[in-house]
Amino acid sequence: MPALNTDTPLSSRPRAVIVGASSGIGAELARQLARDGYALALLARRADELQTLADEINAQTGEPRARCYPHDVTHYAAVPGLFQQLLHDLKRIDTFIYVAGVMPNVAFSEYAFEKDKLMAEVHLLGAMAWLGQVATLFERMKAGQIVGISSVAADRGRVKNPGYNASKAGFDTYLEALRNRLTRSGVHVLTVRPGPVDTPMTKEVGGLFMVPPEKVVCDTLRAMRRRQQVLYTPARWRWIMLIVRNIPSVIFRRLNF
Ligand SMILES: NC(=O)c1ccc[n+]([C@@H]2O[C@H](COP(=O)([O-])OP(=O)(O)OC[C@H]3O[C@@H](n4cnc5c(N)ncnc54)[C@H](OP(=O)(O)O)[C@@H]3O)[C@@H](O)[C@H]2O)c1
Repeated sequence: MPALNTDTPLSSRPRAVIVGASSGIGAELARQLARDGYALALLARRADELQTLADEINAQTGEPRARCYPHDVTHYAAVPGLFQQLLHDLKRIDTFIYVAGVMPNVAFSEYAFEKDKLMAEVHLLGAMAWLGQVATLFERMKAGQIVGISSVAADRGRVKNPGYNASKAGFDTYLEALRNRLTRSGVHVLTVRPGPVDTPMTKEVGGLFMVPPEKVVCDTLRAMRRRQQVLYTPARWRWIMLIVRNIPSVIFRRLNF
């Protein structure tokens, strides 16, 4: 595999790692960051999808700008070694984006531990395994940017998929705690809470107000540049969730939202 092109004669390229880059929001983040000049490490389980995306990006940029690292975030023991490999290949990491997520179908009266466990592992434990490594490095560098793709689902426990809500809430709170720790070292932590997005994840469930991943990524890149702390995307979800968060429990538990 050719060495990653991380430098141009006049400038040093920004370098980003995307965990969960093989489809949907993660793949679109890779495309738009490549257009913005980033060198990229792309991680997810499906090696073929990652390679197709890297080939597309490298063909468009005309140089080896993206490289793939097939990885399952639930293989926690592999994370420290792979992180060192990424550092070696990229030479430096400026931005780390955790996108990986799963949303198995859960019936209204279903309590399936295996599904809940998978969501907790991918959304929370995998994120902790990776972001612990990243936070240690960025704190030492006194620089860097962490982006976590959470969800509006993190804001309240809803009737439809308790495991999804709870695992995203855990991830969201972990990101907030990292931000509170790392801000004092100059590290930026951005929490992104998208509403429904048209990706393979929502192919079967659908949803109100669905937007394309391009919209979520465009808003995310703007929030990264502005060093915003929390982003609801599209923006209407900020106001919708302000209302939803304040619905009294006595009413909320009767709703199917
Ligand atoms: N779509 C929505 O409506 C919506 C709304 C709010 C938030 N989100 C969040 O946005 C993020 C991206 O979702 P998406 O909508 O773009 O869906 P998607 O197309 O299904 O993308 C999910 C990504 O996560 C990766 N992933 C899943 N399990 C993994 C594992 N064990 N190890 C490594 N990577 C894993 C997948 O790659 P592999 O399968 O190749 O491993 C894929 O790249 C998720 O965190 C999701 O919860 C989505």
